[in-house]
Amino acid sequence: MRLLIATQNPGKRKEFQHLLGDLAVELVLPSEVGLGDLEVAEIGDTFEANAILKAQAFAERSGLYTLADDSGLMVDALDGRPGLYSARYGGPGLDDHGRRQKLLDELLYVHDPERGAQFVAVIALANPQTLGCQVVEGIVRGRIIHEERGNNGFGYDPIFQPDGYDQTLAEMDEGFKNRLSHRGRAVEKVIPLLQEIMG
Ligand code: IMP
Repeated sequence: MRLLIATQNPGKRKEFQHLLGDLAVELVLPSEVGLGDLEVAEIGDTFEANAILKAQAFAERSGLYTLADDSGLMVDALDGRPGLYSARYGGPGLDDHGRRQKLLDELLYVHDPERGAQFVAVIALANPQTLGCQVVEGIVRGRIIHEERGNNGFGYDPIFQPDGYDQTLAEMDEGFKNRLSHRGRAVEKVIPLLQEIMG
């Protein structure tokens, strides 16, 4: 089965392919079906709404079953921020490092017991005929530590320590992190949906 992933990021295909294991799906990128320029504005007000917007737009244009994800970091002490705005937190002038520092600054006076946080990933799987979507969610709980540790990963990985582990996500081996992560947990829930479609 050919399955489109609604992302222009080739790294995500590798991650998804790995997480889907030996399931008989061939993941294709938008650029491989003439949709390399299709951009979908993430104007939804939930992760779910944004994942559905992307999955439907790409499924409609490609005629293929399509997976789209939306994810972010929610910090308890900040009432769930940066949440939907994780990628743009602090404005366009900041890079990943700048966004992490901004978050650490905001939590400067927050004590350990209150530094809980979670990564959330929502994946929508769109049917190209009906544009109906099935939606799954993966969550990994942890806490925001006080300074960056580790060089693997991206985004907020160096300041997020999952519950039950001494390492941050950025100190973990990539394969291990991907399985433990919110996205890994969401993909696990997509597998039975794909199996059902494939009969
Ligand atoms: P997107 O869903 O790929 O657009 O991700 C939104 C933003 O959430 C990213 O730009 C990161 O800042 C943050 N984020 C999502 N997943 C992760 C992760 O696994 N590690 C670190 N940061 C993440």
